[in-house]
Amino acid sequence: MSEQSSLVTDQHFRYIAERTTPEDPFLKDLKRAATAEGIPSIWIAPEQASFMQILLQAARAREVVEVGTLAGYSAITMARALPADGRVRTIELEAKHADFAERWVAKSDVAGRVQVHRGKGMDVLPGFAADSADAAFLDADKGSYPQYLTECLRIVRRGGLIMVDNAFAFGELFATTPSDREVGAIRAFNDLMAKTPALQSVIVPIGDGLWVGVKR
Ligand code: DHB
Ligand code: MG
Repeated sequence: MSEQSSLVTDQHFRYIAERTTPEDPFLKDLKRAATAEGIPSIWIAPEQASFMQILLQAARAREVVEVGTLAGYSAITMARALPADGRVRTIELEAKHADFAERWVAKSDVAGRVQVHRGKGMDVLPGFAADSADAAFLDADKGSYPQYLTECLRIVRRGGLIMVDNAFAFGELFATTPSDREVGAIRAFNDLMAKTPALQSVIVPIGDGLWVGVKR
């Protein structure tokens, strides 16, 4: 077996998406409603959602922390991968997004399994106890990722998962003149993850690039 990797192209991404367990009508409705209310369409891809559920189930996760609720798509998705007494604590700064997510969580099949915490990630995370989560998912303002990582390394237990969205910087990772102002922050964060000895980690080329790390 050689160590060579195949080039992952747009064609591969489409191929993967077409062969992934599809999302259910509820999540499709959620996205339609969120778009109608002017919430940006920057939720995770269905194949990424499916992969994260598989990871959470394989890790037998019960407690998950999320930074960046947006419309609640990923929180509901992750909650569905937890046992009945599991919980997703998800943090959202924008009141409009938190309101929307709470409404959709309430009518979902995992209503009792998602708590929306309002505020800045760095105001809420310090209130979560050490070793109180089996997994974390970072998907918020990219400039704060280093601080969120430090907090999550405290909150997630040893052997737990830390997942981080947008390692491919909205597709602009290698752009010479990126249009998004957060691309530099993503590049710096990727280098920080690579040098974080507390994690065994890898970027999975799914969605916009998903960091998956296990806390050593
Ligand atoms: C943006 C943020 C995200 O977390 C994402 O997955 C895609 C886009 C953004 O800020 O543009
Ligand atoms: Mg994202």
